Amino acid sequence: MAGSGSGGTEGSGGSGGGKSRFDDIYDRPDPRTYFGRLAPLEYEIPHHAQPVFRQVAAERTALDDGRPHGPAVLDVCCSYGINAALLNHEVTLAEMYERYTSPACRTLSTAELAARDRGFYAERRRPDAVPVFGLDVSAPAVHYALEAGLLDAAFADDLEQGPPGPELNRALAEVGLITLTGGGSYVTARTFTALLDGVRRPVWVSAFVLRTVSYRPIVQALAAHGLNTTLDTSRTYPQRLFTDEQEQRYAIAAVRALGGDPAGREEAGRFHALHYESRPDAS
Ligand SMILES: C[S@@+](CC[C@H](N)C(=O)[O-])C[C@H]1O[C@@H](n2cnc3c(N)ncnc32)[C@H](O)[C@@H]1O
Repeated sequence: MAGSGSGGTEGSGGSGGGKSRFDDIYDRPDPRTYFGRLAPLEYEIPHHAQPVFRQVAAERTALDDGRPHGPAVLDVCCSYGINAALLNHEVTLAEMYERYTSPACRTLSTAELAARDRGFYAERRRPDAVPVFGLDVSAPAVHYALEAGLLDAAFADDLEQGPPGPELNRALAEVGLITLTGGGSYVTARTFTALLDGVRRPVWVSAFVLRTVSYRPIVQALAAHGLNTTLDTSRTYPQRLFTDEQEQRYAIAAVRALGGDPAGREEAGRFHALHYESRPDAS
């Protein structure tokens, strides 16, 4: 694991006039508070990403890029390794909510939970599992994901603030797919530019981004690195319930400002995300 960073600068859990912040649940030693806090909000975007990431990881792995071994996935804003769990294991997000909020789990120490998780995920490992690296400014979260056996390598570099450290830079040589859920409000084109500057294999990007956030600066940064981005216009993906009316008002206004129509989506009480996929121009 390399680098360090904090989960954000705004107050924990406050609305701050826009989207509520959850900084206090991102940097815990294990995922119990994360799942406990997000369960009532029905945070569900990793569930929607699961089949999409499995499909794109399989397609990217099948692409012969002249290297003897398959590429790694880099999950940006990986937190406790949730997308890695869902990608490589026979597990659902609902089962993860149940596991981490269960009374049986509550009394365990973090070390006991990590040991149990290691066995739990090892038993459910899929035969087509791919290497997954995780990047998140929360050092405790990525450390837990490593301990639980979900990540092959973990990095806590903050690429919004500076370039990748030497360990992440070395790891970028293996990356062929970048995934993102729940991070579009946290990372900008700066992070993607830093990553794309460092990769050495053809890289695809599969990202779920809230409709309240413009993905355009990242699309432009990816285009500058030869990646063409397509938006799946066929549907939106519910992300979570709003914390309060203020957050809903903010989201409705933000979606409208970006040219979207909140009717039946944000107006019905939830954030919605869009799926963007970026691949090299020629593929
Ligand atoms: C809403 S969580 C998403 C976690 C996970 N991907 C999911 O969907 O369940 C957002 C994550 O972004 C991380 N984050 C915030 N700023 C970041 C940055 N500059 N670089 C990488 N991760 C960051 C937070 O620490 C947090 O774990």
